[in-house]
Order: sequence, then C-alpha cells, then structure tokens
Amino acid sequence: MAMREELIEREIEDIIGLRERREKDSELYKIANEVFDKTTKETLSYLHRRGKLKALFGVVSTGKEANVFAGVDAEGNRVAVKIYRTYTTEFRRIWEYLAADPRVGYLPKDMRKLVFVWTRREFKNLQRAIKYAVRAPEPLTFNNNVLVMEFIGDDAPAPRLKDVERELEVRDFEELYDFTIGVIERLWKRGDMVHGDLSEYNILLWDVPVVIDWSQATVRRNRMSVELLERDLRNVITYFSRKGVPVEDYNEKLRELLER
Ligand SMILES: Nc1ncnc2c1ncn2[C@@H]1O[C@H](COP(=O)(O)OP(=O)(O)O)[C@@H](O)[C@H]1O
Ligand SMILES: [Mg+2]
Repeated sequence: MAMREELIEREIEDIIGLRERREKDSELYKIANEVFDKTTKETLSYLHRRGKLKALFGVVSTGKEANVFAGVDAEGNRVAVKIYRTYTTEFRRIWEYLAADPRVGYLPKDMRKLVFVWTRREFKNLQRAIKYAVRAPEPLTFNNNVLVMEFIGDDAPAPRLKDVERELEVRDFEELYDFTIGVIERLWKRGDMVHGDLSEYNILLWDVPVVIDWSQATVRRNRMSVELLERDLRNVITYFSRKGVPVEDYNEKLRELLER
C-alpha cells in the first residue's frame, strides 16, 4: 500500500476508534467498511486533520443516498456527520434537481463530483434557513461528500416527529402544525426558499422542533419551486389533518402564499 494511503487508513481507524475498541463487529465498523470509499476516507481524514472531526462513535441513520453518524469535533462538541454515497442510484434525480437550481452553475458529468455539489448545496441551504429564523442544525463545515453540522440531541439523537407521534395529543399536533406552516411561510415569503421534503420524517423534536434534511431545498427562482411548495404544503396539511388538527384549506393557503 502506498505511504499516503496507509496514513489515511490509520486516520480512519482513529476516527472510528478501531484500535482502542477493536470492535470489528460494531455497527459503526460495519457501515464504515461498507460505505467509506477512497474519496470518503480522504475527506474524513482531511476533516480530522483540521479538527472538525475527531471521532465518529455511532451510526444514526442509514439511507440510500446518505448515512448520518454521531461524532465529536476536536473541542469535544458533538456533531452530526452526513456522508453522501459517492455512488448513488439517485444520480438522475440529483442531476435534475441541481439543473433546475439557478444558484448552481457548472454541473459536473461525473457522479462523484455531482454529489459534491449536492453536499455543498445542502450546506448553503442550512445557512440560508437559519438566516430566516428557521430552526435547523447549524452547518459547521463541508468537504466533498461530507457535511458536518450541529448534533440535535444529547447522547442519543433527538427523535423524529414520526417516532413519537403515538405519544402525542391533538394539542401537541396543533402546535406542531402551526410551527410547520410557519416554517413554510417564513421560508417562502421572507427567505424566498422552499424545503421540498418537509414531513414528519424530517422534523426532530428537541427543545424546539428542528427541521432537518435540506438537500432538496431550493430558492423561489427555481422553476420547480412552486411544485415543491405545493408538495410540502399538501403533505403537511394531509398529515396534520389525519392527526385531528383543524387544518386550513390547501388551495386557499397556497393562493395566500403565492400572492405577494
Ligand atoms: N443534525 C442532526 N442531529 C441529529 N440527528 C440527525 C441530524 N441530521 C440527521 N439526523 C438523523 O439522521 C436521519 C437521516 O438524516 P436526513 O438528513 O433526514 O437524511 P436522509 O436523506 O437519509 O433522510 C434523520 O432522520 C435523523 O434521525
Ligand atoms: Mg430525511
């Protein structure tokens, strides 16, 4: 093995705590082994050297596009690390979404590099959402296919709305409905922005509700933005209406949002 590659392998072992723990059967080790390709390893080692990521200690979520890990930075702060797969079957969808986004200039033909653009766009979306007072994880840094952000939770990640819905009462759903509609409105009217995948799966319940998963979010000047707004609004109204919330009329609400 080349010298540089060996160094990177060592660093990855440090990051996943392999030498201290020797838990070759841990979930973290398994997932890391399966999804950390050469690019991901190089990227993680770069973030490690810069102190942005000291260690990963758990798998939070495995998805078809990305995996999310719990980690810690050099100062001991907990971080969430979203690592996009550089090989994805979602290439076409990602390409279409990026092609419609006026903020994205050059579109690489190579899948790996396209995923880098996708990652950077999610980082920018997080910054933009926070700027318009929407509670989202604070974006800390990104590089290639890796996004590092504030960890929402304590030892364990905060639950998603979907995970706790059975424990909630109508009153809770009413509050959450107001919150979610407020997010849609603020993003659209003040931020000229739309989330595009707003659902019970992408809202974490913490001290306040936190909106995550900003990979599909885009700006209003995107030719797909109204379609995305409609989708968010419809999903949210349908979901909360099923939970017994006296929701607003979809068409009326949409009209209200679209008029300036
Ligand atoms: N900043 C975060 N803090 C804590 N948990 C997170 C954070 N970001 C994501 N997660 C967890 O990881 C899961 C997947 O992340 P998400 O961004 O929704 O990606 P996906 O595209 O796979 O849905 C979420 O449902 C949530 O449970
Ligand atoms: Mg999600």
